[in-house]
Amino acid sequence: MEIESSNNIPMECGFHEVEEPYSDHTKVVRPKSLEELIQELHKIFDSDKVNVDYVKRLMTLYISNRKDWKKYAKFDPHRYTRNLVDAGNGKFNLMVLCWGEANGSSIHSHANAHCFMKVLDGSIREELYDWPSEDSTGTSMSPRQKNTYEKNRCAYISDEIGLHRVENPSHSDKAVTLHLYSPPFDECESFDQRTGHKNTVKVTFWSKFGKRTPYGVCATTKEERKNAENN
Ligand SMILES: [Fe+2]
Repeated sequence: MEIESSNNIPMECGFHEVEEPYSDHTKVVRPKSLEELIQELHKIFDSDKVNVDYVKRLMTLYISNRKDWKKYAKFDPHRYTRNLVDAGNGKFNLMVLCWGEANGSSIHSHANAHCFMKVLDGSIREELYDWPSEDSTGTSMSPRQKNTYEKNRCAYISDEIGLHRVENPSHSDKAVTLHLYSPPFDECESFDQRTGHKNTVKVTFWSKFGKRTPYGVCATTKEERKNAENN
């Protein structure tokens, strides 16, 4: 039998350029569930280099399924809640934020972390702000851009891009978002829109891994991560 050989294959190729894994966002495969998305995120964040477009695409491709995330969706009647889903081996925190009707955040920074925000339910409005300059201290901050994200869309922000405020624009429907922060942080800066003055604030979890956080406990301990991974 004759075997056809292709002239297109270079026979004496001295070197192949090896593509780094998780670097080409056109090759992202759709995760079929939140669990698959989390497994993939663990692999990606195992490396110290992270491709923002790749993660954004991966989170966009996951089709929100309430069954996957309802155990983390815990609402407070007065303000939005943060509910830890996965502590990413210390490399990232993945959490579900629950926004009651018209709930919103303050203007805030992100502690030098990458911040991805995917809409799981409802829609979300984001206002982007520049960092206040020293000259502008005492004057009010106005947004440079407003974006609305519908279900399944994914936004990205970092301190390099600026500051933002996030809100559920609906007065009749709740909203749920999935946030990934890398590296994890438990403090950020909150800004007073009227003056541009900032305060350092602790960020806390309403629940962790589906269980209500005891009063006064906000940091994610190594032991808690280990327990979660063993469950
Ligand atoms: Fe944010």
